[in-house]
Amino acid sequence: MTPDIETGNQLIDSEHIQIFDAVNALLDACSNGRGRDKIAETAEFLATYVGMHFSDEENLQKKCKYPNMEGHLAFHKRYRKDVSDFVDKVKKNGATVQTLGELNALVSKLISHIRQEDKRLAAYIRENS
Ligand SMILES: [Fe+2]
Repeated sequence: MTPDIETGNQLIDSEHIQIFDAVNALLDACSNGRGRDKIAETAEFLATYVGMHFSDEENLQKKCKYPNMEGHLAFHKRYRKDVSDFVDKVKKNGATVQTLGELNALVSKLISHIRQEDKRLAAYIRENS
């Protein structure tokens, strides 16, 4: 994990690492021409893990009464939906020409969220606990 996406919060950072591992597994499955079932299973794991991670972050926010919770949760909600739409598409069509582009777009969106919002959250937790 590169320092620019490190938040300094151990739980958040360790879960982000798992997400990027899952993304890489999915990229591998797509580019190595794995079967549709394997690709769907890998995509499903990614979606489940992202959902669990967001819940963990949300619990941290509730615990410290995070003032920017509303905006942060709104992003999580939209992103959960984006990921689940993506997984549905992959399940239906397997990896198509568009899949890698869509996955990369999802990853970029998450990275900018981590750089701004997750770092802001981690700093707040550090200063208020
Ligand atoms: Fe977040």
